[in-house]
Amino acid sequence: MTILFTHIKELLQTRPQSEMRVMGRAMADLPHIKNAFLRIQDDEILDFGPMADLVIQDSDQLIDVTGKLILPAWCDSHSHVVYAGDRSQEFVDRLKGLSYEAIAAKGGGILNSAETLQQTSEAVLYTQAMERINALIQLGTGALEIKSGYGLSTEAELKMLHVIKKIKDTSAVKIKATFLGAHAIPKLYKTNKKEYIDLIIHTMLPEIDRQKLADFVDVFCEKGYFSLEDTAHILEAAAQYGLVPKVHVNQFNAFGGVGLAVKHKALSVDHLEVVTEKDLEDLKNSDTMAVALPGCSFFLGIPYTPARQLIDAGIPVALASDFNPGSAPSGNMNFVVSLACIKMNMTPEEALNATTLNGAYAMNISETHGSITKGKKANLIITKNMTSYRQIPYHFGNSPIHKVMINGAFVD
Ligand code: NIG
Ligand code: FE
Repeated sequence: MTILFTHIKELLQTRPQSEMRVMGRAMADLPHIKNAFLRIQDDEILDFGPMADLVIQDSDQLIDVTGKLILPAWCDSHSHVVYAGDRSQEFVDRLKGLSYEAIAAKGGGILNSAETLQQTSEAVLYTQAMERINALIQLGTGALEIKSGYGLSTEAELKMLHVIKKIKDTSAVKIKATFLGAHAIPKLYKTNKKEYIDLIIHTMLPEIDRQKLADFVDVFCEKGYFSLEDTAHILEAAAQYGLVPKVHVNQFNAFGGVGLAVKHKALSVDHLEVVTEKDLEDLKNSDTMAVALPGCSFFLGIPYTPARQLIDAGIPVALASDFNPGSAPSGNMNFVVSLACIKMNMTPEEALNATTLNGAYAMNISETHGSITKGKKANLIITKNMTSYRQIPYHFGNSPIHKVMINGAFVD
């Protein structure tokens, strides 16, 4: 099956296979071809270029997209999309003045979600998560990382990972699974954190490895959650099973989590609302991607990740949704692009690089996703008519999307 798109107003993010990520000043460049064609064969990109170079061959389907842009589908490298219930009551409590930290301290927050999830069946969790993911696909998401971390017991963490595995096997989008058993200290272990860490290391990790349920490991490295020492223990144990770290660091406090994650060869460090000079130094010349989550800053009213500072220091930045019931109850990557420009002063080019190529890097799929490259998956956003890609962040809150294609097939 071949599909030929013609008269594409702008074909965005056209890259050679060798470019796996962009960093620093290079993020300001978004390679694109005006008045382009793009040929798809089955689930892959076969060929593309300017219309002037098009050699007409037989195609099963010819689609003239005059006035529209085509770009790679969003690669959302950080989500907690498998969850139970919602936390809208905590949202209202926050509107009335309680802080996110205060709500968590009195047993709400992650522990509240864990209690609900423990009582929810695998089937219900799967159905609800798939509904959310199908809505995200309509919004242009073509690859999604999903974390456990609302189970906080061996049984419930495995239940979450089984749900993620089933999503991986049945959803059209590319899914990566992250084990986040160290998301919070469960009530049962409130006075004995070490015992919970032992459970993660000696019971959860071996079983997750046996069943091959995770691609990555994550820890919420934060005051009141997991210390540098705890994080190091867990990352070291996970490394024995080949799990690469993607770590929650510097959301509220900066105390060396970035350096520790880099030392453990983390694929990404995520949040970074608070960043020190030392963190910048640690990230420079590393293979670790800095992932900003502006939806969380927007929803909680906390500082935004200083993306300008990171980019100006030559560091690669990706953007993700952090979709979760407590700090970012939206997985809309179009809005993430707008927030990154409006609130973090990223340019549209930087924001689009951060949500496609760099997002793919942060989930280790840049060989197959994240750019318009021959041989990569045909995961595409076909926009509505627009004058330029600048209109994507500019019309915040609007969907720029006309159609989405995942693995060469249009999504209804
Ligand atoms: O990335 N910071 C830790 N974890 C999530 C929030 C989880 C929650 O509040 O349920 C985050 O923001
Ligand atoms: Fe998160």
